[in-house]
Amino acid sequence: MKQPGETIPLARPVLGEAEERAVIAVLRSGQLSLGPALGAFERAFAARLDAPFASAVSSGTAGLHLALRAAGVGEGDEVVTSPFSFVASANVALYERARPVFADIDPTTLNLDPQAAAAAITERTRALLPVHIFGYPAEMPAFERLAERHGLAIVEDACEALGAVHADGTPVGGRGHPAVFGFYANKQLTTGEGGMLTLADPALKERIDSERNQGRAPDMGWLDHDRLGFNYRLSEVACALGSVQLERLDGMLSARARLAASYREALAGIEGLGLPCPDLHGNVRGWFVFVVQLPRGSDRERTIAALAASGIQSKPYLPAIHLMSFYRERLGHRPGEFPVCEDVAARSLALPFFPQMSEGQVSRVGEALRGALGR
Ligand SMILES: Cc1ncc(COP(=O)(O)O)c(C=O)c1O
Repeated sequence: MKQPGETIPLARPVLGEAEERAVIAVLRSGQLSLGPALGAFERAFAARLDAPFASAVSSGTAGLHLALRAAGVGEGDEVVTSPFSFVASANVALYERARPVFADIDPTTLNLDPQAAAAAITERTRALLPVHIFGYPAEMPAFERLAERHGLAIVEDACEALGAVHADGTPVGGRGHPAVFGFYANKQLTTGEGGMLTLADPALKERIDSERNQGRAPDMGWLDHDRLGFNYRLSEVACALGSVQLERLDGMLSARARLAASYREALAGIEGLGLPCPDLHGNVRGWFVFVVQLPRGSDRERTIAALAASGIQSKPYLPAIHLMSFYRERLGHRPGEFPVCEDVAARSLALPFFPQMSEGQVSRVGEALRGALGR
């Protein structure tokens, strides 16, 4: 039997000596939370995205939660969002006893379809929560028009989209609405766990900084709290790591973009296989994952098993949120409600994708996938 060779993982962070030095410096400083690394990371991140402010938090989920609260979303409100996302973008509405209202996605970009979103708006809608899925910029100008027409807030889920740029040249996260980035270990930039909000309004920044820290205003003393808050702080070690990762971001992003181009070549001509959409109309994807749509009629589980037998990790990514058992039971969703999302979710497969991946590894994945699909 042919040996599969070294396993190619789905994702792997880029961590080097600079990260080690930064972490050790924090440990030696003795200040492990709410120290200078926090402000330094926030300022560098905001500058990178041309955003007036940034607030670091313990996860992307925490950032989305605080952003929705700051948008005034509460009990009985509705938040129009994408069913083709990581579950956190819908869960955060439920945290505030609001309802995530799903609308179908665009079959090309896989992002929330503005027309479908418009049709989902009711008098209870309080906010729009578009997701820049797989790092591809959501159609923000259309959502901005919609929000203005209906008096809605916008919260952007940019957890997968660091480095993405809109057609008008604005970086994703730099349009003035609260936008939330995630720094989980598979992201473009990682702090292990972590997240960042970008913001334009200083009052929102103050509220979010307070709520992430148990509701303590900046001028208040220890153990004094004037509002409900959470522990959504990001540690100094994580912030120091984040600042170093930010310095290497351009290199990591261009390595991902190069790999994506290699994947396109390696997978060209596989009949029926859908590839991520290329950058359209001047939008620039911030490459996060390489997700293909398997040909109709192929067996995804068998494909995953065949890839695994060749030492290649792959994963169905993403499942449709509304069809998860919790969402079916809680909100009564059924198959057939969002046909584009359901079709895409049933065929999506994430392939290994990380900056240190070699051209040889990309070819190996391409050959194995071609073989697994019998093409
Ligand atoms: C689209 C999307 N939204 C939200 C999140 C939540 O981020 P975190 O895992 O940092 O809480 C993620 C990250 O996995 C994501 O991919």
